[in-house]
Amino acid sequence: MAAIIVSLASSFAVSSSSSSPSLLLAGFRAASASSFRLPFAVSPLLLSSKRGRLMAHTLAQASLGLTQPANVDVPKIAFAAKDIDAVEWKGDILAVGVTEKDMAKDENSKFQNSILERLDAQLSGLLAEASSEEDFTGKSGQSVVLRLPGSGSKRVGLIGLGQSASTATAFRGLGEAVGAAAKAAQASNVGIVLASSEGLSAESKLTTASAIASGTVLGIHDDTRYKSESKKIALKSVDILGLGSGPELDKKLKYAEDVSSCIIFGRELVNSPANVLTPAVLAHEASKIASTCSDVISATILDAEQCKELKMGSYLGVAAASANPPQFIHLCYKPVGGPAKVKLALVGKGLTFDSGGYNIKTGPGCSIELMKFDMGGSAAVLGAAKAIGQIKPPGVEVHFIVAACENMISGTGMRPGDIVTASNGKTIEVNNTDAEGRLTLADALVYACNQGVEKIVDLATLTGACVVALGPSIAGVFTPSDDLAKEVLAASELSGEKLWRMPLEESYWESMKSGVADMVNTGGRPGGAITAALFLKQFVDEKVQWMHIDMAGPVWNDKKKAATGFGISTLVEWVLTNSS
Ligand code: BES
Ligand code: MN
Ligand code: ZN
Repeated sequence: MAAIIVSLASSFAVSSSSSSPSLLLAGFRAASASSFRLPFAVSPLLLSSKRGRLMAHTLAQASLGLTQPANVDVPKIAFAAKDIDAVEWKGDILAVGVTEKDMAKDENSKFQNSILERLDAQLSGLLAEASSEEDFTGKSGQSVVLRLPGSGSKRVGLIGLGQSASTATAFRGLGEAVGAAAKAAQASNVGIVLASSEGLSAESKLTTASAIASGTVLGIHDDTRYKSESKKIALKSVDILGLGSGPELDKKLKYAEDVSSCIIFGRELVNSPANVLTPAVLAHEASKIASTCSDVISATILDAEQCKELKMGSYLGVAAASANPPQFIHLCYKPVGGPAKVKLALVGKGLTFDSGGYNIKTGPGCSIELMKFDMGGSAAVLGAAKAIGQIKPPGVEVHFIVAACENMISGTGMRPGDIVTASNGKTIEVNNTDAEGRLTLADALVYACNQGVEKIVDLATLTGACVVALGPSIAGVFTPSDDLAKEVLAASELSGEKLWRMPLEESYWESMKSGVADMVNTGGRPGGAITAALFLKQFVDEKVQWMHIDMAGPVWNDKKKAATGFGISTLVEWVLTNSS
């Protein structure tokens, strides 16, 4: 896997060195030196000394609490698809993916499945014994791991896949379980095999191997950048057995590694607290993507003044209370060698913190302390940008758009009842300052439509109502377009991420009517995820195919107390289906 280093740290060299303005500027220039050579539009921000100082100052504010993320190297794990018999394989852990059917035994209590039967024979019946003692039946989420002193593989694990495994979700889950087992055992090499893979087509062998590989990387990943001490990950190599070998599989595994490293980048953005990851730091991370893929990606970063010129009153209203100024981020991917046949936009909600504003988040369950994750949509969009910049798909142009800001409280902030005017001229009575995401997305969607794109997908941690409807691991999908629904849902089948289409019930718009403006920004609790989606629809051209994904549930893993990186793999798959 390509080592990725998310060096947010470069921004902090600025703040930690000294507080003298000239040093701040010098530090910032050094940090962004590479951008001087590059033809991307962020350079005016960095070149002008007045703006440069402003920007350095903006970045310096991230020193609150004196926290700096450590530059942690993500370990490089080598994946290989091999044609070795699993029973002959030697290494630290051999993990076998087992369905409930595979666990069937004959009248002599011997496994009917050939791999399990031969492994069990090699282990003198230990496998059958342990699995029945520990009640392992192959259900998804179950696992048994045996320690075997003196054997070829020092541990053998059975990982449950459920009734019959056929989905990317199941195989990604297998990889995640293997990653967790490898971490617990400090294993440096692991072999993974499915008890039954004979029935798989050549195509599904490729997608299965890739789902297992990305699951393993993501299962073992642990974001330790904000800990003063951490254990090194020992895993060096993973052999995928029984799914064939050769250049096609190797290419697919490389793809899985590339996308996984971008998912880790997305997780790191979301895990970073709001005192570290301000809108300016997010914009800086975006321009770094452009500078490392300068052959295909250009960056435009707009400051508050430039957004004002574009009449983005809705977005600027949300940003108005914060000492950390807003940054409107626009990356543009253009393929090398010829014009694109399709133009797409990915728009992400980028609230680096959501206090609720004057409608402050209070009371148990409001999760205000987690609201650093309110830029999960933008992390998905920037993670996808990083992957697309590496994969370089032909025939497709992609715009990555984030109206980044912070929803805070101050005398300069928006009041409940204020009327803001969006960049398409529509007026909004803000009856709740905590429904801020849709206000920022309104101007971002108008901007996206102005890029002349045919299709837009937006992702946002938009409503608690969507979490109530679908729970913590499923995102809600809202779109008037059956074609776009088909495309994106097919992409999510490949990625293994869970999406569920919800209705865009037009009659609910009734609750969004204002006495004084074109609309209010909240329509009350019933159907809250639907009215939020209907609100966004007011800012999209009718001739553009548009989809909104509410990822308020799956952005965060409560058990792991960490970001999931949700959305990136589905977005990348979707962009690739639009490539030619
Ligand atoms: N960022 C929140 C949505 C959210 C809530 C995400 C909980 C994840 C967990 C959003 O800005 C918000 O506050 N939405 C309000 C809307 C309401 C005021 C209509 C909500 O869901 O409560
Ligand atoms: Mn809110
Ligand atoms: Zn929010």
